[in-house]
Amino acid sequence: MKIELNENKVFLENKGLKKEIHPFWLRERIDGDKYIDQITQQRLFDPTELKNNIKIDKLNLSDDFLEVTFNDGTYNKFNVKNILKEFLNDSYNQNVAKVKWDSSLKISNNFNFEENIFEKKSMYEALIHFYKYGFVIFKKVPTENNFIVNFANSIGSVRRTNFGEFFNVKSKPNPNDLAYTSLPLAPHTDNPYRNPVPCIQLLHCIENEVTGGLSTLVDGYNVSESLKKDYPEYYKILTETKVRFQFIDRSVILENWSEMIELDQNGNFKQVRFSPRLDFVPLIDKEKLELFYSARKKISELYNSNKYRIEFKLIPGDLIMMDNHRLLHGRTRYDTNEGNRFLQGCYIDYDSTEGKLKHLKRELNI
Ligand SMILES: [Fe+2]
Repeated sequence: MKIELNENKVFLENKGLKKEIHPFWLRERIDGDKYIDQITQQRLFDPTELKNNIKIDKLNLSDDFLEVTFNDGTYNKFNVKNILKEFLNDSYNQNVAKVKWDSSLKISNNFNFEENIFEKKSMYEALIHFYKYGFVIFKKVPTENNFIVNFANSIGSVRRTNFGEFFNVKSKPNPNDLAYTSLPLAPHTDNPYRNPVPCIQLLHCIENEVTGGLSTLVDGYNVSESLKKDYPEYYKILTETKVRFQFIDRSVILENWSEMIELDQNGNFKQVRFSPRLDFVPLIDKEKLELFYSARKKISELYNSNKYRIEFKLIPGDLIMMDNHRLLHGRTRYDTNEGNRFLQGCYIDYDSTEGKLKHLKRELNI
């Protein structure tokens, strides 16, 4: 990718394709002290107040800099690298290649909590691991004073829900969700009824004295890709049928309509939603429903099969961060008479991990 000039026009050349860069696009990127606050990098002028007919009067290109004089009398020396950077997609969420996994996955890369970890390279590596596998486990995270909130806010910002800023997972009387019982929980994604669905769940193990209550994870991305290959008709209907997900509590009714496998605008994997106690398919044609029910049964079988599920025990101090748009999680049954099992959880969104990664990249020169 490079910048080229022709008369008073600037072109971006990329793999043989040449596109003119609009003069206004350059004009609103003028970056001298007079135009940009050098600390926040925010504009000191409002580009909507500029005239539309901005043109280029004079141009000069060297290896590193592009000098432009515009027809409104302004001049700027652009760093070519900064211009080219704008054409790169620097989203970690999209650029870190997902590694599909199944039950054969060995959890090896655990990251020990340490003082100031949030500014260290190990945090950068942990977050990259998160984007590859959809989860990461931190060990020896302090278990006092609802530390999970502190942890989440040190990466980004806690996403508060109607369960509160954070929630306690232990069996309790009259629970408003099956999570707060000792029953097994089949693989599911959290809060599919919320709009938007929280992106990342953090779960911190405070106490675990029981022999059961193993944590389970399934790679929804891998399962949906397998479904696409082996059962294309099922894949198609699950990616095309919007389902109502619903949660009814005393003070709120939450509903969201979406596909069980949601694709992006290019038809690629975006998100899975699966919570078979909360989903309601609309009354579509009987033949379509016939296919939908078979497809949902099949994907449920896959999500619940030994082929895809990993099981492991969280011990006190373990904190797992998992992608709620990609992975399904659950737990095995446990016996409350054996002792305490106590986890704390909260959510953050992708802007937290993306923002942290970009910050660490800048600070650590990665
Ligand atoms: Fe859950």
